[in-house]
Amino acid sequence: MEKLKIGMVGAGNIATNAHLPAYAKCHNATVVAIVDLDRSRAEEAAKKFGIPEVYDTVEEMLEKADIDAVDVCTWNNGHAPCAIAAANAGKHVMCEKPLTVSDELADAIKEAVEKAGVKFFLAVPGRFGHKNEYLQKQVADGAFGEVFYAKTSYIRRRGTPSGWFTDKKTAGGGPVIDIGVHGIDAAWYIMGCPKPTRVSAFTSSHIGDYQTKGVGRWHGTPSPDNQFDTEDLGAGVIHFENGAMLMFEASWAINGPAHSDTQIFGSKAGADVTSATIYGERDGYLSDDRITLDDNDRFLAEITHFADCVLNDKPTRYPIEQAVTMQRILDAIYDSAEQKKEIIL
Ligand SMILES: NC(=O)c1ccc[n+]([C@@H]2O[C@H](COP(=O)([O-])OP(=O)(O)OC[C@H]3O[C@@H](n4cnc5c(N)ncnc54)[C@H](O)[C@@H]3O)[C@@H](O)[C@H]2O)c1
Repeated sequence: MEKLKIGMVGAGNIATNAHLPAYAKCHNATVVAIVDLDRSRAEEAAKKFGIPEVYDTVEEMLEKADIDAVDVCTWNNGHAPCAIAAANAGKHVMCEKPLTVSDELADAIKEAVEKAGVKFFLAVPGRFGHKNEYLQKQVADGAFGEVFYAKTSYIRRRGTPSGWFTDKKTAGGGPVIDIGVHGIDAAWYIMGCPKPTRVSAFTSSHIGDYQTKGVGRWHGTPSPDNQFDTEDLGAGVIHFENGAMLMFEASWAINGPAHSDTQIFGSKAGADVTSATIYGERDGYLSDDRITLDDNDRFLAEITHFADCVLNDKPTRYPIEQAVTMQRILDAIYDSAEQKKEIIL
């Protein structure tokens, strides 16, 4: 079977611990070239995963490597320049979440992708989890009636990543844009991606650069002038054109219990997404139906999906229009927190 030839951009944590192991198992895509600002990191990954070519810059890889598409796994502020350069070179683009660090850059990616006529896919693995897939389809098929409310929490007690993640100009923000986006997207996707209309939110940074012992963290590489100027908590509400509302919270550090869950509420039934339990009524009684769904390799699923979309000219599950809308939501959350007022989208 024909395999999509991928140029990997970024050889850090997510590339080497999630994407590259998934490509090793993937039947329709293969990584043939890799680049990182730190060449030694790219070389190490190339050796470990048997990638034949290593480049010094994205531009050089786009010019010389025989690739169909790129997989962008850089710091968040690298997503836009790399995705735009790739689209301009006629390459299809898969990009790690979040799309980028501002809605102006999101629009620039959209413009480049549309002008080049290439496929774009925002890699959010949650959309490929069996529970989210099942519930999204149930909502779309009307099993929940009108979904008018949802809430999502991604709360770490002490889990602030190191390196570039806490540098606002490199990351675009803290837990809201880093992990909150997973929960917000899960709810939004299952709700059927309604059009957002207004956002009210707050952020805080009362814990900051803690020295707590006995806790682990995700290690990001240091960016050129690493600052610690991101929030460590964000919370708020997102309203949609269809009248529905989504309440969210996300923290890297808080003095409370860590938990992660998403719930949706419809006129006929509701669901706890994390446990795949559907709350409804049967024979006039309350019913709690727990659906048994095995966990799957969501990274392998998203990569296989992207390759299938390019090879067989199908629409991607997270196209550029939706990625831009999500960026507008994230930007509105930060604007609302800063301006202390509701933001109309
Ligand atoms: N889907 C998920 O669950 C998930 C989890 C973690 C991280 N991520 C995302 O993956 C991306 C990378 O995160 P990470 O944890 O791997 O970070 P990392 O710091 O471990 O790796 C990033 C790598 O990108 C390289 N890089 C930065 N800018 C570049 C550029 N312009 N050209 C080439 N290389 C460049 C850096 O040198 C570094 O090696 C981020 O966007 C992050 O949000 C997603």
